[in-house]
Amino acid sequence: MTGVQLRNLGIRYGQVEVLKGIDLDIPPSEFIVLLGPSGCGKSTLLNAIAGLQDVAEGQILIGGHDMTNVEPKNRGIAMVFQSYALYPRMSVRGNLSFGLKVAGTAKPEIEKRVANAARMLQIEPLLDRKPSELSGGQRQRVAIGRAVVRDAGVFLFDEPLSNLDAQLRSDLRVEIKRLHQRLKSTMIYVTHDQIEAMTLADRIVVMKDRIIQQQGTPDEIYNKPANTFVARFVGSPAMNFLDAAVEGGDAIVDGKTVHIASALSSQAPLADGRNVIVGIRPEDVVLHTDEAASGLAVEIDVVEPMGAEKLVWCKRGSIGISTKIPASVSIKPGDKAWLGLSEQCLHIFDADSGKRM
Ligand SMILES: Nc1ncnc2c1ncn2[C@@H]1O[C@H](COP(=O)(O)OP(=O)(O)O)[C@@H](O)[C@H]1O
Ligand SMILES: [Mg+2]
Repeated sequence: MTGVQLRNLGIRYGQVEVLKGIDLDIPPSEFIVLLGPSGCGKSTLLNAIAGLQDVAEGQILIGGHDMTNVEPKNRGIAMVFQSYALYPRMSVRGNLSFGLKVAGTAKPEIEKRVANAARMLQIEPLLDRKPSELSGGQRQRVAIGRAVVRDAGVFLFDEPLSNLDAQLRSDLRVEIKRLHQRLKSTMIYVTHDQIEAMTLADRIVVMKDRIIQQQGTPDEIYNKPANTFVARFVGSPAMNFLDAAVEGGDAIVDGKTVHIASALSSQAPLADGRNVIVGIRPEDVVLHTDEAASGLAVEIDVVEPMGAEKLVWCKRGSIGISTKIPASVSIKPGDKAWLGLSEQCLHIFDADSGKRM
């Protein structure tokens, strides 16, 4: 079992600093997901771990050894790309065995590993086909199989599901999770899709603006986002943000008092006049159709049925708030409603720095 450590890693393209001060300790067998918007440097970081990208400063350790300047093929890793990168003229079997042949692996061993990977990924019936005779999902299975046969300690995945349609994406997502449960290899998986990150990861690393914004379990990232960026990036629809000013330890949202004391990590009350952002997830907003004195009065703007539940977009002047409610509640645009913002469900952020308070 192989762990990976990144120490103060910095990467530049010419004069442009793409990543800086990246410190990451990935224990053996962990499934870690690097999550961030397009262009934040996820592929760059993954390529650096693979040895396909030069680093300007810092160190990459794989299995405890300094691999910063080691050839990609000697790093003991296997990589799966978004574009499947299969050899078009070779059969699936040829694609799966090629790397092993080049490495001089004995034929019976190659056959055993190919058969094993094909069974695991349910591509046995496809072994004699060419990539052009496969669907996108099948091609990506083959690409994953090619990584599996290498028996590597560390797997790197760069947005492997991005080119697939929604159904295939969720099928293959489960497949990758099952693969990790079986192989117990260290897996480093890059995506901009927060649902993939939440569903696959033991631990999520959220990246933006050249740095790591937060690392933690999916539960920590979702329930204790470190700042407004993480809070909005993870969760769909996004967390609601309400501008507020502090008065007597409470937040005043558009003239309405909202208790926040128990949502703060510090015991000390906030100073009067301080500007904060009150965050609440749509599923935590309680919608009352009868007047509730404690609730925030709103008007229903748009109702989106989603099967088991409804997504309801409410407005109060220029403020918009979304809420998820059971499908059985009958409500229509133009209706009045009162929103309960329960104190223990709130996330309070500093309005200037965006940091969780
Ligand atoms: N070869 C390159 N030369 C110069 N800039 C690059 C190169 N590759 C990527 N970049 C820039 O580096 C940043 C990070 O890119 P990338 O790692 O591909 O992001 P991500 O995978 O998160 O979408 C982007 O701003 C991108 O434009
Ligand atoms: Mg990328």
